[in-house]
Amino acid sequence: MRKPLIAGNWKLNKGGKDAVQLSRNIKEGVRDINNVDVLICPPFTALMRVYETIKDSSVKLGAQNCFYEMEGAYTGEISPLFLIDVGCEYVIMGHSERRQYFAETEDIIGMKLKSAVSVGLNAILCAGEKLEERENGKAFDVVKRQLEGSLSDIPEDYIQKITIAYEPVWAIGTGRTCEPDVANKMHRFIRNWIGEKFGNKSAEKIRILYGGSIKPHNISSLIEKEDIDGGLVGGASIKANSFLEIIIAASKRTRY
Ligand code: PGA
Repeated sequence: MRKPLIAGNWKLNKGGKDAVQLSRNIKEGVRDINNVDVLICPPFTALMRVYETIKDSSVKLGAQNCFYEMEGAYTGEISPLFLIDVGCEYVIMGHSERRQYFAETEDIIGMKLKSAVSVGLNAILCAGEKLEERENGKAFDVVKRQLEGSLSDIPEDYIQKITIAYEPVWAIGTGRTCEPDVANKMHRFIRNWIGEKFGNKSAEKIRILYGGSIKPHNISSLIEKEDIDGGLVGGASIKANSFLEIIIAASKRTRY
């Protein structure tokens, strides 16, 4: 059975000493929880300090992005090797905000993903449709295109280092969560796609997270669904209380 993963995407929040405080509170709050993997993804500038804060705990560290080149004349970019160097185990890839505001295409996301996994990072690949795409019955086509675009030519063994996050764009930061049954259908679709491409064993193993307005009150009904293996949490991950409530709710999942 897949162990749930609850990941906090802090986005452009908590850059300095607030990051240390928040990560300390999270570390203390999860001390007795061992049936949920917990990951936090602060901004780049806080990674080192957060690593120092959580390194003696089970909380894992991730970044929100990285470049596909390892080094060179790329002003302002961050190499996947630098993430390893500051203690990251994970990196988020292809978040809808990066697609929308930073013009990241499937090709770019695919290259980033390959580079990150090649140095040993676990990648969380985000995919999800916009509201009008769902309303026009295109949600499955869009997600399939995103998966194909970023995963079609990765080496087969890389799939073990990949987590998928299904994040319907219309649910991100809006307070409008996807119905658990609707989300689960998409998760099943994603798992089937992985099965066709990488085999049933990989499909059974891969964790598929839901993301989009996860809050303490709705995580339980999501995580009880067969193909929902955890959550990528934005707004509710930058307050220790709400993030911890989500983790505790996930730890009480009855489906094992
Ligand atoms: P949200 O963000 O929980 O604030 O909707 C989720 C995400 O963007 O990963």
